Amino acid sequence: MERQSRETVSGETNETPNDGAYERHLERSRTMWNRWSDYYGMSERDFEPMREDLIDRLEIQPGDRVLEVGCGPGVNLERLRNDVGEAGEVVAVDYSPEMVGKARERIEDGGWENVTVRCEDATTATFDEPFDAALASLSLSVMPDARATVENVYGSLDAEAPLGVLDVRPFPEGPGRIVNPFVRRFLQWYANWNPENDVLESLEAVFEESDVVETHLGGFNYVVLCRKETATD
Ligand SMILES: C[S@@+](CC[C@H](N)C(=O)[O-])C[C@H]1O[C@@H](n2cnc3c(N)ncnc32)[C@H](O)[C@@H]1O
Repeated sequence: MERQSRETVSGETNETPNDGAYERHLERSRTMWNRWSDYYGMSERDFEPMREDLIDRLEIQPGDRVLEVGCGPGVNLERLRNDVGEAGEVVAVDYSPEMVGKARERIEDGGWENVTVRCEDATTATFDEPFDAALASLSLSVMPDARATVENVYGSLDAEAPLGVLDVRPFPEGPGRIVNPFVRRFLQWYANWNPENDVLESLEAVFEESDVVETHLGGFNYVVLCRKETATD
C-alpha cells in the first residue's frame, strides 16, 4: 500500500497509508468517541476485571514510565498511577477531545501530577523518552491502521518492555461464528471497529514475543502480552 509521511506535533514524521481511508476512519473515530464520552459507564464497569488482569500482567514497578494508547475517559489511569507511584509517570494518548477532557477531569480530581493525557493520533505521536511498559485496552482494533500503531508503540518502548493488549474480535471458533456477520456490523456501528485491522497478526509481526494469555466469551475478548527484543550489548 502507498504510504504517506505525516508530521507529528513534535515536528518528526511517521508513515501512514495514503489512500484517504486513513483520514476518513480517524475523523469518524473522533466524532463517534466524542459522542460516547458521556455514556461510557457500562463499558467501564463491564470490562473492569479484564483491564485489571491486563495491568496485573504488565508487572509495573514504582518509578516506571507507562504509555496508554487510546485511553478514552481515563478508566485505567487511577490503577496505573497507583502502580507507578509518585516517582513514575503515566502518559496517555487519545484522539477524541471529549474523551481527553474526561480523562483530564479524573487526573485533576485525583491530583496526579505525573499523569498526562495528550490529544493526538496514537499512530503518529512521538515521545521524548522510552517507556517501561505500554497498554492498549479496547483501542487497537478501532485504529485506522493497527499495524502502524503497533509499530509506533514498539518504537516508543525500552528494550524488554511489555505491551499488554485487551481487545475484541468476531468469534474465532465454535458456534458463535454464525453470528459473526452481525458482530462485525455491530462493532463497526458501535465502536468504529476497523475490519481492515488484524490486531493479533500485527502484534506477532512487530514484537519478538506475542502470546494470547487469556480469552473470554468464546474468544470474543482476548488479552495479549507482547515483549520487545532483549537489549544487545
Ligand atoms: C473503546 S475506547 C477504549 C478506551 C479505554 N482504553 C478503555 O479501556 O475503555 C477506544 C478509544 O480509542 C480512541 N482512539 C481511536 N482512534 C485513535 C487514534 N488513532 N489515536 C488515539 N486514540 C484513538 C478513541 O477516541 C476511544 O477513546
